[in-house]
Amino acid sequence: MSAPKKLFIKTYGCQMNVYDSERMAEALGGEGYVETKSADDADMILLNTCHIREKAAEKVYSELGRFKGLKAEKPDLKIGVAGCVAQAEGEEIMRRQPLVDLVVGPQSYHRLPEMEAKAREGEKVLDTDFPEEDKFEKLKNRPKAKRGPTAFLTVQEGCDKFCAFCVVPYTRGAEVSRPADRIVREAQDLVERGVREITLLGQNVNAYHGAGPNGDLTLAQLIWDLDKIDGLERIRFTTSHPNDMQDDLIEAHGTCAKLMPYLHLPVQAGSDKILKRMNRSHTAESYIRLIERIRAARPDILISGDFIVGFPEETEEDFQATLDLVEEVKYGTAYSFKYSTRPGTPAAERAQVDPAAADDRLQRLQALLTKQQREVQDSMVGREVGVLFEKAGRLPGQMVGKSDYLHAVHVADCNRQVGDLARVRIVSSGANSLAGELID
Ligand code: 5AD
Ligand code: SF4
Repeated sequence: MSAPKKLFIKTYGCQMNVYDSERMAEALGGEGYVETKSADDADMILLNTCHIREKAAEKVYSELGRFKGLKAEKPDLKIGVAGCVAQAEGEEIMRRQPLVDLVVGPQSYHRLPEMEAKAREGEKVLDTDFPEEDKFEKLKNRPKAKRGPTAFLTVQEGCDKFCAFCVVPYTRGAEVSRPADRIVREAQDLVERGVREITLLGQNVNAYHGAGPNGDLTLAQLIWDLDKIDGLERIRFTTSHPNDMQDDLIEAHGTCAKLMPYLHLPVQAGSDKILKRMNRSHTAESYIRLIERIRAARPDILISGDFIVGFPEETEEDFQATLDLVEEVKYGTAYSFKYSTRPGTPAAERAQVDPAAADDRLQRLQALLTKQQREVQDSMVGREVGVLFEKAGRLPGQMVGKSDYLHAVHVADCNRQVGDLARVRIVSSGANSLAGELID
């Protein structure tokens, strides 16, 4: 038997790309590939790209340029580009960078084995279709490797919201939900392989409406189905849109013990004028009322968010409204970005904010968000939380895991194993993590 071929995958961007990279590795595993951590000894390199940040495509070209020497040494090396940059500019990549053998969009990963075979025969292959079939269904039945205690599981993809700044509706396409029975089967399989916590993924996850036995299921109904799986201890989901936060999902946060008290609910901005121009179809007020309803169902829930500053036509007054909203909501964690144009999106055509003003706003917003994050983290001291242990710590006898609220927690003198869920009392709050002790 010939030695296994080696696959190097570099993953950029969101958790959905992490999940997709795992599926691509499994698909090519069926073709005799094993993963390697170094591009130097790879027979195939895949860049799983992200298009959400500025100059994403340029970064991909410069990364590809670095493989030139490697390809010269090893003419059999195959180089592929996957993910959202592949989807957005596949043909352009093929034209501009002759090193690339294969371009595969996020909806076509199940076709990778055939594409790889063609590439081995010297063909240049490009597939950025949006096929009808469920790619994950086609990718299943791969070797059942043991897994760590946490996993992602994609339940829906794409987005129909068309926020004026965002490329996702173009790169990931229209919103599609996977049928519930397939998701439940995949979750059962993950649990059999050692997984204790599953994060349900979707660009617009709470718009989930996958087929069930008696019509479509909501995300909350899917969560209740997953709740029945013995051995699955924790359920999370991300990323949600405020307008799809239905009553049954809010209620589940109060009644489903496996559903963790953490919600990532991007608002993007606090000015109604800007929200309107972003095509967000909610107001600052409706978002704040929604947070109140969620907190009424689950008072201790940790709220996380995304923000964009310097969106076209944002004035200082508009920005102040974002700061006011943050003050009112109090975020446990958040991600904030300076607006950057994405060609092809509606906002790209509009008058841009002075970059120095946008930088200044980003700094002020981040200072406030960091302060809130710190306060929320510090408020955990003295409390009892669940911790799922994910790895050994750096000190002897120490274990590290995540709390129900997704804070990293270190526990000294810990006689627990990876994958154990324990009750822990938080004793101190450090720079980026908490320290706790086991409660017997
Ligand atoms: N500029 C800046 N930030 C953006 N995001 C999406 N598109 C852009 C853009 N053009 C941010 C949003 C989104 C997060 C994933 O990335 O805040 O919620
Ligand atoms: Fe992009 Fe999210 Fe808006 Fe969809 S809801 S367009 S993914 S920012």
